[in-house]
Amino acid sequence: MLSGKTIVLGVTGGIAAYKAATLCSKLVQKGANVHVIMTSSAKQFITELTLQSLSKNAVFSDTFDERDPSVVSHIRMADAADLVLIAPATANVIAKMAHGLADDMLTTTLLATMAPVMVAPAMNVHMYGHPAVMENMKTLEQRGVMMIEPGEGLLACGYVGKGRMEEPESIVAVVERYFDEEKKAEPGLLHGKKVVVTSGGTIERIDPVRYITNDSSGKMGFAIAKAAREMGASVHLIHGHTDTAPPAGIDAEAVQSADDMYQAVLKHWHDSDMVIKAAAVADYRPAETASSKIKKMGDTMTLELIKTVDILEQLGKSKTNQFLIGFAAETHNVEVYAKDKLVRKNCDLIVANDVTAEGAGFRSDTNVVQVYDADGLVEQMPVMSKDEIARRLLTIAAARMNGAGN
Ligand code: CTP
Repeated sequence: MLSGKTIVLGVTGGIAAYKAATLCSKLVQKGANVHVIMTSSAKQFITELTLQSLSKNAVFSDTFDERDPSVVSHIRMADAADLVLIAPATANVIAKMAHGLADDMLTTTLLATMAPVMVAPAMNVHMYGHPAVMENMKTLEQRGVMMIEPGEGLLACGYVGKGRMEEPESIVAVVERYFDEEKKAEPGLLHGKKVVVTSGGTIERIDPVRYITNDSSGKMGFAIAKAAREMGASVHLIHGHTDTAPPAGIDAEAVQSADDMYQAVLKHWHDSDMVIKAAAVADYRPAETASSKIKKMGDTMTLELIKTVDILEQLGKSKTNQFLIGFAAETHNVEVYAKDKLVRKNCDLIVANDVTAEGAGFRSDTNVVQVYDADGLVEQMPVMSKDEIARRLLTIAAARMNGAGN
């Protein structure tokens, strides 16, 4: 149920705007307080009166139509929203969002809001597949905008293919699931705690144009940082090379090498309550980094590598009251290696996974992990989203940190 939630429903000018009436009605029936913002093109397809009658709230479409002199409407809407949902979203509004344009009530509200944003695209199949639209959607996703993929079928333009806005019932289900998951994160669990998360792969330079890195996407660490913030922690994220930008609204610091990461972690170590080392740190780096590009010479080339600092091990040695969580990505003998790392690096918990398992691995959105403490297995988590794993892991860690202490 959506009671107590304020949803700003943005309706843009596509034929699917007619479905916005059903969507609005269903959200209201579930208890949401829905405020509709329409673009001027949307009004070619559906009237303000329809959406006003269904939402029981005034509908906005003109930034300059200020009805209450004591407030600025688009800022008030932006601040009040628990979620901004754009349905249907045309290629045009998606492009405006990707580029930060703000030329009407909806796009100004979108720039001003700190609330999560969901977008349900609806357009012709060729428009949907156009590289510009694809690129814009990717940009939005990287900024944390949630996309509700369109369905396939007969489109209003006569084409059959992908581009039909997802049905209102399914959109409502996505919205409900979102608020449900948010609830599960138990907002207060890490309240007042400082949590440092490392994520991504380090980059060890060979010369100005070459480096050694690994396949880490940064997704697991990003999910942990997000979940820690949802649980009330003040989060500092230190990340190496990652596939996507860090989650919006998180205090994030980009670093390159293992040594950079170590220095960055040390700055926060003493006043941290919890440190989670999800990063894939290089174990070795070139003994020397050439200052200019190394030229090709003989048929073979030997690169001398030396050990990097083991950040987790160093932290484990100087631990006072910090709760320390390490990761162990393995391809075999997971339990044996994970337990060995837990002891060797003096961690409170270790999160182990077999990166070769189905549903696990660096680039995947899901993972399969086991959590160990000094006494053995704490929890075996089946294949689940990295977001869900992050929440469960932090719930286990918070209970231990707040309860038995460290
Ligand atoms: N780690 C670290 N610094 C390093 C290497 C690893 O802090 N130089 C951390 C990782 O962030 C992870 C944990 O140690 O939390 C285990 O990393 P992993 O690569 O699985 O283990 P290693 O100790 O490097 O052991 P091996 O490569 O032999 O499996």
